[in-house]
Parts: sequence; C-alpha cells; structure tokens
Amino acid sequence: MIGVFDSGVGGLCAYRELRRLIPREDSVYLADIKNAPYGTKSEDELIALTRADIKRLSAFGARKILIACCTASSVWHRLEKEEREISLPIITPAARLAASLGERIAVIATEHTASSGAFSKEISKFSDASVMEFAEQELVSLVERGNRDGSVSGECKDTLSAISRRVRDAGAEVLILGCTHFSHLEGELSMLLPEVKIVSPARAGAIEMAKTINEGRRERGRVIYT
Ligand code: DGL
Repeated sequence: MIGVFDSGVGGLCAYRELRRLIPREDSVYLADIKNAPYGTKSEDELIALTRADIKRLSAFGARKILIACCTASSVWHRLEKEEREISLPIITPAARLAASLGERIAVIATEHTASSGAFSKEISKFSDASVMEFAEQELVSLVERGNRDGSVSGECKDTLSAISRRVRDAGAEVLILGCTHFSHLEGELSMLLPEVKIVSPARAGAIEMAKTINEGRRERGRVIYT
C-alpha cells in the first residue's frame, strides 16, 4: 500500500495522478486538516508533524509514502534514516525537471518553503539557473475555500493576476507550483502565463513514486537465464 499526505486538499492532485499511473496499487490519502496550514509553522513543528504523518500512514499499512506537500518535503533531510527510506519528498523530482526546462525559474510556495530556500538549494544540484521564490500563503486558504480550476472567485482571480505580474516581472521562463494546493489552479495560471512552462511538484512527485513502485515490481519478477 502507498500512503500519500498533505495538510489538506493540495496533495489530492498528486494522489489522483498516482492512482492514474498505478491504478492496481492500494493507496491511502491523509489530509492533516487538524494542523493546517503547514506553511506558517516553524521547522521544528513541521518535522514533528511530518514524522506523525509518516507514522500514521505506516500504521495503516503503507510501505512507501509520498510526501505530497512541498512544505513537509522541505524538512525531509531532517527526518530519521528509517523515515527517509520509506518516504519520497516531491521537491527533488520537480527541481530536476525545472532545471532541465530553463535558466530563470520562479517558485510560488508557502511562507515556510519560500523562506527555507528549499527549491533554490535543490535546483542548484542540477543547474546554475537563477531561482526567485515568492511566498503566496494566502493562495492556500483560497484553494481550501473551494477555489479550484473552473470555479474561481473574484478575490482569487485578483490574487492570481498579481502573482502572474510578479512572475512575468521576474522574467521567469519556468514557474514551479511549489505548494501542491496551487496545482488546483494550474489551468488558470497557464492561461495567465501562456509563455511560461509550468512545473507541478504534485505531478513530478507522483511520476517519481510510480517509477519507484514499477521498478520494485520488475525486481520482484526478475528471471535469470544461465
Ligand atoms: N500543500 C502544502 C504544500 O505543498 C502546504 C499548504 C499549507 O498547509 O500551508 O506546501
């Protein structure tokens, strides 16, 4: 069984993609709404919450866990070895993809993720691209309040226009939706920024997890001729 978690509805984008890629795999999704939002928490609080989420999903029978939350993924390196071995942070696959797509990368994320510089650090492992990180915490509550593609309030439209201006002014070629909640607004953002390549860590993380699971399956079924 695969476990997937986030502070709320954001990680559902990764969960849906994962179900589409490996439909026969059992899975469970945990939305830790009791402790949401994660983006305004301190690093120590986030480590404790991420540990508790991994523990709950493991107790449920999950043998692999996708951290479908960029904020929680930003503290992955501070988890215990056993926790790191069963979990996959979504920042790494998204950073690798973004680094392959352009030299000027904008990231919109929660307060914690943006101030931690987690995406900049990870992208620097793959390229010399310049990275601009913007904290857009209010967009998290707008998505939680029901603003998703196809159903966007005037307030949300204004927020998205302001974000698009910042991204365009920064001269970005690539935009990372560095909070999985924002993947629910990918359609709106791609209409506002048609010239920018959009990277969704929710999707990149789900693809990476599906690859890991498929590789494991192949290994279990290996045939050796002598
Ligand atoms: N969806 C989460 C992320 O990817 C966190 C949103 C929040 O709870 O602040 O960072």
